[in-house]
Amino acid sequence: MRILVLLGAPGAGKGTQAPIIAERLGLTHVATGDLFRAAVTAGTPLGREAKTYMDRGELVPDALTVRMLLERLARPDAQAGMVLDGFPRTAAQARALDAALAERGVRVDSAPYIEVPEDVLFSRLAGRWICRASGHPYHEALNPPSVPGVCDVDGSELYQRPDDRPDVVRARLARQMPPFNDVVDHYRRSGVLEPVNGARPIEQVTHDLLSRLLAAGERG
Ligand code: AP5
Repeated sequence: MRILVLLGAPGAGKGTQAPIIAERLGLTHVATGDLFRAAVTAGTPLGREAKTYMDRGELVPDALTVRMLLERLARPDAQAGMVLDGFPRTAAQARALDAALAERGVRVDSAPYIEVPEDVLFSRLAGRWICRASGHPYHEALNPPSVPGVCDVDGSELYQRPDDRPDVVRARLARQMPPFNDVVDHYRRSGVLEPVNGARPIEQVTHDLLSRLLAAGERG
């Protein structure tokens, strides 16, 4: 069971790269942000609670997030291995993941880290549009869809996330970067961190990520 943790600040390109990597490596893409947005849309108790934090740019509390993630890991399609996107976001989440994987006799194989300077993150989030059906991300200037307002992959409508407003983006970066840096340290200490320069065109970042991950897979 191969477990990859794709790391990056808000807007670094995790949601752009994770589905490509997952498909290429035969793994399941699991994004906690997508799981929360689906719960918000469905109006579940989890979604109602998560929304209050997401709207303010804050992290959803660890207990709720870890429980949701562990339920997702128990589903059959996760058993072949996963690309985790947006999880873990705190040191406590990283420890909970390690413990859950240890019970299954596995561990995080690699933590590719898409590194992007903060000023670039702002412009990426300000111009982002995502699709209603599956959250496929686009950018009005850097990565536009073929037909404006329509997802290339599934034809659904594109919309702007409420947490991509400039004031919420500022809050997301201010509140979420300190715990995120703890997570980076966690994987640096465990020897699996793989930094990748994310301030380049999407295809180059994909190439860099895949060449490292394919080489690591061959090494076993
Ligand atoms: P989540 O959905 O995970 O948001 P995020 O981490 O803030 O990440 P984003 O989705 O904003 O960015 P991304 O890195 O996926 O970038 P993307 O590929 O779209 O979480 C949302 C909220 O849910 C959180 O704020 C929190 O409240 C809650 N939450 C989620 N997980 C949680 C957890 N574990 N614990 C607690 N709370 C949690 O790219 C961005 C834009 O840039 C796009 O327009 C894209 O087209 C463009 N782009 C991408 N790559 C490039 C490139 N190389 N060059 C040019 N443009 C690019």
